[in-house]
Amino acid sequence: MNIQATQQSIQQGGSILQNGGLVAFPTETVYGLGADALNAQAVAKIFEVKGRPTFDPLIVHIAELDWLPKLTRHVNDVATTLIEKFWPGPLTLVLLKSPHVPDIVTSGLDSVAVRMPSHPVALELIKAAQTPIAAPSANLFGCLSPTLAAHVEKQLGEKIDLILDGGPCSIGVESTVLSLVGDQPMLLRPGGLPLEEIEKVIGKVVVQTTTGNIQSPGQLPSHYAPRTPLNIISTVDQLPAEKNIGVLLFKKPNFKIEAEIVEVLSNEGDLREAAVNLFSALHRLDVSGVKAIYAEHVPEIGLGLAIMDRMRRASYRDDSENESRK
Ligand code: TXA
Ligand code: MG
Repeated sequence: MNIQATQQSIQQGGSILQNGGLVAFPTETVYGLGADALNAQAVAKIFEVKGRPTFDPLIVHIAELDWLPKLTRHVNDVATTLIEKFWPGPLTLVLLKSPHVPDIVTSGLDSVAVRMPSHPVALELIKAAQTPIAAPSANLFGCLSPTLAAHVEKQLGEKIDLILDGGPCSIGVESTVLSLVGDQPMLLRPGGLPLEEIEKVIGKVVVQTTTGNIQSPGQLPSHYAPRTPLNIISTVDQLPAEKNIGVLLFKKPNFKIEAEIVEVLSNEGDLREAAVNLFSALHRLDVSGVKAIYAEHVPEIGLGLAIMDRMRRASYRDDSENESRK
């Protein structure tokens, strides 16, 4: 059920969550699929509905700082500094977990990912539920993340209790995930808060690469993927001379492009606007029926890091996986 977020529907969502149900809700990054983080059975439903093959750790969303000591064992100075500066907002912190958090939320890890979203509907919903909310992006496993209630409806529609519609997400890519449990802060997933902003406050951050131990499924080589094969090109000159293709451009081109469908992320080449439009544009290209999608490289600064990360994962193809997807 997809309904407008109002005070009344948010309260309704709060009681569904309290009773172990699932509610999809808007955040400033992408739509989340929420369950009571302290109710292991409710959290199990998230994995069932998303079709996640393994139990990957989830982000716990809070609306008030009072919740933090109940979820974590230790909040160090770096965490406190980042929280003061960036919460509420698109920054997820991985901290040492407290025993209150069920293992299914953290996949048995000794750490827990926590964030305080800034979207008013998300905050109101969490307050109405009076409990922290575990929420992955509200999409089927490995598919494109939803930035509109309609995207959630299409992928998860009848399987969940309520979808609160809060309009399009203002950031459009998932939160930045930063681990603070090791010796040094480590970026596990580039996202809605640019790395440069974090480094301005806490200095150099180690960037976890996909070749090491995968600590975060957002680091799986194929993720956030459309069904249509996606290829990254560095300039539009590399477009094939074919009509049945979809093209995803960073900026408005100054000549006509011969393609079935052309999506422009930002007319003026603004990375923030491009991030907002990324998943919606990919959703439209994916349903357009074209044979292949060609996506133009964007500069890897600011939000460009998160955009290119998502594009690379969307373009990754493992032949054995393609066989099984047929
Ligand atoms: O913007 C977002 O973060 C959205 C909205 C709904 O808040 N949520 C989201 O959740 O993107 P999800 O489940 O799609 O991604 C969570 C990421 C995964 O890459 C997961 O591996 C990582 O956070 N994560 C969660 N707990 C972790 C932990 N304890 N250690 C390391 N990584 C963790
Ligand atoms: Mg996700």
